Amino acid sequence: MTDLFRFGISVEKELIEEFDACIRKKNYANRSEAFRDLIRQELIREEWAEGDEVVGAIILLYNHHRKDLLSKITTIQHDHQNLIISTQHIHLDRDDCLEIVAVRGEPVKVQWLADRLKALKGVKHGTLAMSSTGHALGDSP
Ligand code: NI
Repeated sequence: MTDLFRFGISVEKELIEEFDACIRKKNYANRSEAFRDLIRQELIREEWAEGDEVVGAIILLYNHHRKDLLSKITTIQHDHQNLIISTQHIHLDRDDCLEIVAVRGEPVKVQWLADRLKALKGVKHGTLAMSSTGHALGDSP
């Protein structure tokens, strides 16, 4: 089990009241849990800014009838298969597809790949969910 380290912090009353309201809305069990998530989030941001290897998911929503779009998406993925762990394609309805591309690699390259896919004409929405291999989060290797 992970060792827990306790520490106290001082913040303005208004700030902690806003924070408590915010974490209630997000259903955190307590401040500690919310604060742990904030720390992890910051460490992931750091890892994405400065790390050698990150993981994440590119999520794309697009209309597959759009001329040449499917072949462009496929070509880009083939060109960057060293960054792609797996791709899941879901046929949402007669027109729209949801594609989830799990990625791993240098942050700059992963971001570049996500930007290229998101920028394709016909992609209705694209987003990059940034995560971590966990090493920066204090998890055991
Ligand atoms: Ni489809």
